[in-house]
Amino acid sequence: MTTAVAQPLALRGGTPVRQAPFPSWPVFGPEDEFALLEVLHSGRWFLSDRVAEVERAFPEFHQARHGCAVSSGTTALQVALEAAGVGVGDEVVIPSYTFVATAAAVALVGAVPVFVDVTPDTYCIDVTAVEAAVTERTRAVIAVHLAGQPADLDGLTILCKKHGLRLIEDAAQAHCAEWKGRRVGAIGDLGTFSFQASKNLNAGEGGFVVSDDDALADAAWSIHNCGRSRSGEWYEHPLIGGNYRMTEFQAALLLSQMRNLEPQADLRSKNAALLADHLSDIEGIEPLLVDDRVTRHAYHLYVLRYDGAAFGGATRDRFIEALCAEGVPGAAGYRPLYREPAFQERFRDYPLDSPAFGGKPDYSQVDCPVTERICADEAVWLTQNLLLGSEQDIAHIAEAVRKIQQSSDQLAG
Ligand SMILES: Cc1ncc(COP(=O)(O)O)c(C=O)c1O
Repeated sequence: MTTAVAQPLALRGGTPVRQAPFPSWPVFGPEDEFALLEVLHSGRWFLSDRVAEVERAFPEFHQARHGCAVSSGTTALQVALEAAGVGVGDEVVIPSYTFVATAAAVALVGAVPVFVDVTPDTYCIDVTAVEAAVTERTRAVIAVHLAGQPADLDGLTILCKKHGLRLIEDAAQAHCAEWKGRRVGAIGDLGTFSFQASKNLNAGEGGFVVSDDDALADAAWSIHNCGRSRSGEWYEHPLIGGNYRMTEFQAALLLSQMRNLEPQADLRSKNAALLADHLSDIEGIEPLLVDDRVTRHAYHLYVLRYDGAAFGGATRDRFIEALCAEGVPGAAGYRPLYREPAFQERFRDYPLDSPAFGGKPDYSQVDCPVTERICADEAVWLTQNLLLGSEQDIAHIAEAVRKIQQSSDQLAG
C-alpha cells in the first residue's frame, strides 16, 4: 500500500495539477462560417429553407413527430405551456433545482410555479413530492432533465395520467439523452430544448418545441408565429401568439453544428465513465447516480456530490476555490430558486388564491431541504466542455481532487 504524500496546494502557492486550459467551447470551423455566409448572401434571413430543414431534422433526431424552432429555451417553455392551455390561476409543479427559466416561463404565462424538491441522488424532480403538491388547480408538471440526465419519466407519466395533467419535458440540457432507449422530448406531451451558447448544441441562442400530439404541435406552431395557422393567410390569426421565431442564421448554424452532436455526445459519455472510474476510490466525492433506465445521459454538466467530512471539514466553496486554483474550473451552480425575491414580488398582488399555498402564492413558505443542502454544501459542477478532452485531461481532474483531499489540512483559513 502506498502512503499518500501531501503536496502544497496551488491555493497555497504550490504548482497547479493542470497548467493548460481545457477544451474551449464552442467548437466551430469553416463549414459553420460557410453556412452563415450562405444565409447572409441569400438575403432570406427569416422563415426560409434552413428553419424548414431544422423543423424536419431536429424532431426526427429526437424521435418526435412534430416540432417548431423558436428563439430560445425560455420561449420554448412559454410556447409549450400556452399550447398546453396553461394560464392565469393554473399551478405548474416544477423542481426547485433548475435554471430560473423553468419557473420564469410559468410566471410569464400568468400561472403559479409550485416548487417541489428533487431527489438527493439524481437532483431531478422527486415524483413523490410532485404527487403531494397536486391540487385541483394543477395543470401541468415540468420535468427538468438536469445536467442531461432524464428525470423519472415513468413515474411522472403515470402520475400525470392519473391526475389529468400535461407533462412537459424541459430538455434544455438534454440533447441526445434517452430514457429506456427513446430520445427525450416527446415522451411527455411536449418537450423543449435550448440552443443557447453553453448548451451541447449551440446556435448562440435558440430553442425548440417537440410533440407527438398533432393538436398540441399545431397550437405550439401557431403561438410561436403570431397566432397564424399553417394553412391560413399571412394576416389571419386564429390564436393569440407572439413572435418567437428562430432566424435563418440560427437555423443554419444549428444544422451545421448538429453534425458534431453525436460524436461529441459519445466522447462526453466515454470521458464521463472514465472520470467516474478515476474518482471511485476518492472518499467524499461522488458523481450523481445515473438511473438504470437512463440509456443515454447528455452530460451537459458533470455533477459531483461533495462531502466536507472527507476533506477535513472544508466547505464546498473552499473545495471549489482549491479545485479552480489547481486548474480545474469547478462551480457551485444554482441557488434555491424559490428564494429569489422576484417570485415573491411577482405574486404579491396575484388576483387569485392558489390551493398549493392555501391562499395567495407566498414563496417565503417554501422549503425544499434537499435543494437547500445541494446548493449550500454539496454540488460541484464541471461543464460539458471539460469532457471533450483527452484521457489525460480527465486524469488531471481526478488528480486535482485527490491532491486536494490528501492535502486538506491546507484548506483551513
Ligand atoms: C433547464 C433549463 N431550462 C431552460 C433554459 C432556458 O434556455 P435559454 O437560455 O435558451 O432561454 C435553460 C438554459 O440555460 C436551462 O438550463
